[in-house]
Amino acid sequence: MPRRAGRHFLQIPGPTNVPDRVLRAIDFPTMDHRGPEFGVLGKSVLAGMKRVFKSAQGEVAIYPASGTGAWEAALVNTLSPGDRVLMYETGHFATLWQKMATKLGLEVEFIAADWRRGADPEAIEKRLRADTDKRIKAVGVVHNETSTGVVSRIAEVRRAIDAAGHPALLMVDTISSLASMDYRHDEWGVDVTVAGSQKGLMLPPGLSFNCISPKALAAAKSARLPRSYWAWDEMIANGKTGYFPYTPATNLLYGLAEALKMLDEEGLDAVFARHQRHAEATRRAVRGWGLEVFALDPREYSASLTGVLMPAGHDADRVRKVILEAFDLSLGTGLTKLGGKMFRIGHLGDFNDLTLMGTLAGVEMGLELAGVPVKKDGVPDAMQYLSECAKAPARRAA
Ligand SMILES: Cc1ncc(COP(=O)(O)O)c(C=O)c1O
Repeated sequence: MPRRAGRHFLQIPGPTNVPDRVLRAIDFPTMDHRGPEFGVLGKSVLAGMKRVFKSAQGEVAIYPASGTGAWEAALVNTLSPGDRVLMYETGHFATLWQKMATKLGLEVEFIAADWRRGADPEAIEKRLRADTDKRIKAVGVVHNETSTGVVSRIAEVRRAIDAAGHPALLMVDTISSLASMDYRHDEWGVDVTVAGSQKGLMLPPGLSFNCISPKALAAAKSARLPRSYWAWDEMIANGKTGYFPYTPATNLLYGLAEALKMLDEEGLDAVFARHQRHAEATRRAVRGWGLEVFALDPREYSASLTGVLMPAGHDADRVRKVILEAFDLSLGTGLTKLGGKMFRIGHLGDFNDLTLMGTLAGVEMGLELAGVPVKKDGVPDAMQYLSECAKAPARRAA
């Protein structure tokens, strides 16, 4: 392939652009993971992740694995063969988690839905109320469905579980929301939060996380699903001194320490406001093109990505190909049943107003180049919004 000048625009909804500071932090000699320096690093990243999860009471496990590993860890540490789990079909990733639970020998009740809305707290409450003998042991929800750009309202799901008076554990996948969108492990009463390194945390793929409530830890004592690599007990026991039960991904942990520093410097609230601002500007662009945002309910708009529906008769993957070839910009593909019907614009991680404008300009030019009939108001509308935000910094999150 011929060299392409300038930086590639990696605007898929993760993995995201890794900032130079994080790349430099990773590019450092690997240290002895049993030596004295390592414990300092381990303790600091564990404490930093607790701050990001907003958990004072929870324990954190860091795995050298992709997000899928942390999904498995959440299930095998807390449940026993044949246990019933309630999950909600918000999209491709919720479906994969449900399939995993089934493969592990759990009995999954999957509430079917059309992917354009988040998990419905009322439907969850109704199902839990009907479970009078409390056979359901866990409720699993994806906070930000990366395949659609639709958010589930976790605080409301918690209230629904409480209203039903049900003891099920609440497990939440925050792989594409953590460090991009407001998330509160303790306050929302989440028992296991699942996260990954390659999105809001601005790292390459390769680390994943569980944040674990005292209730989930207690459940782990009697859970009988087989586990060894994923077992929390040794992970947490070693973590007390900043070490790991097996070889950790040392250089990714250097990167994590730097990413946590960057999040601290900007402040989590400012990070969330920035993501919201870019999401709103993107939705204005989509409407300015005369296209449709996939998420239907404004309360459930994702701040980390936007799903864009194609007009009938136009293939989203062809548009993505045209955009990649012409402008060196990667966009997310439509997954499974959305293949060819939509593309996804990732606007998460290390990203600013002008990288967003470059992205939106690439999309607008590419839509025209691919012969999709769109209006050319997208870029000006987004630009107008970002200018207004810049004039009134206090309203930048609005
Ligand atoms: C919401 C969500 N859950 C789970 C996964 C699976 O994570 P991984 O591909 O890192 O194993 C992804 C990946 O993009 C995701 O976006």
